[in-house]
Amino acid sequence: MPAIFETAPAKTILVGEHAVVYGQPAIAIPVHDLRVKVVMQALPIAQRGTVLIKAPDIALQAYVDQLPEEHPIAFAIAQVLAHFKLEKSPACQMSITSPIPIGTGLGSSAAVSVAILKAYASFLGQALPREVISAMAYEVEKITHGTPSGIDNSVIAYEAPVYFVRGQAVELLQAGERFEFLIANTGIAHKTSEAVAMVREKREANPGLYDPILQQIGELANEARSAILKGDAMALGRLMNANQTLLGGLGLSTPELAVLIQAGMRAGALGAKLTGAGMGGNVLVLVEAETRGLVEEALRKAGATAVYHTQVGKA
Ligand code: MEV
Repeated sequence: MPAIFETAPAKTILVGEHAVVYGQPAIAIPVHDLRVKVVMQALPIAQRGTVLIKAPDIALQAYVDQLPEEHPIAFAIAQVLAHFKLEKSPACQMSITSPIPIGTGLGSSAAVSVAILKAYASFLGQALPREVISAMAYEVEKITHGTPSGIDNSVIAYEAPVYFVRGQAVELLQAGERFEFLIANTGIAHKTSEAVAMVREKREANPGLYDPILQQIGELANEARSAILKGDAMALGRLMNANQTLLGGLGLSTPELAVLIQAGMRAGALGAKLTGAGMGGNVLVLVEAETRGLVEEALRKAGATAVYHTQVGKA
């Protein structure tokens, strides 16, 4: 049997991270060029039940039954087996490779889960609907991140811009125009679960201060939805900047993020903000086709360890 592979993209949050955990709307888009790849190969002479996992990026090589049940990879595989009512897996090797930097707000864990779920189902000769993939990846995200909103698994499973409200069906957004983005890495990793816990503690200690900030972020997400549908890049840029100010108010920005944001804006970007959990990680910068090169150069000069590109809307 020839090898089978599936991929899943990274993601970036355009507006609404953290507030989305508390029921506010948020918008996320896929990063199509940055993809996890999972290759499945049958192991014809190995015993049924053998699943050899190779994930060189995290220095993991193990049989699935050597991993704890709640290991994200083992748990993803177990969910697919249970879904198709299979007791044992056909013998196989699963190779996972990912160029997505870990702990930088680009959804690496959800992308790994989605790629595994798709590849393993394909290997079993099955296909899973996107909503099932998203729901299964959400269960894995709970192991990795504690109390995730579900936005990462949604945007990655659907591979489309999503307007997301916790507990509601996702709305896929059709952008009225093409929007171009750069994503620049500070090179500083941070755990999402810790950033989410920090915001939770602050909010619990002072809801009068923090609830209005979270609500204002939700309002920005609603305005951003309209700007995307209309194709209004200037408005979207302003909303991203306003979102960054509010994220700063939640204590999620850092000097390194601020340096990249300032460099991007000075070089002509329309808007810039941290993306994902913050406290390090990446900034998301809205650019125009004409200024993209200059902004990218400025981001690199300001210390970005990597710059990625993504876009939404008409080609
Ligand atoms: C992480 O990509 C986004 C956060 O809002 C957490 C979540 O939504 O689960 C920080």
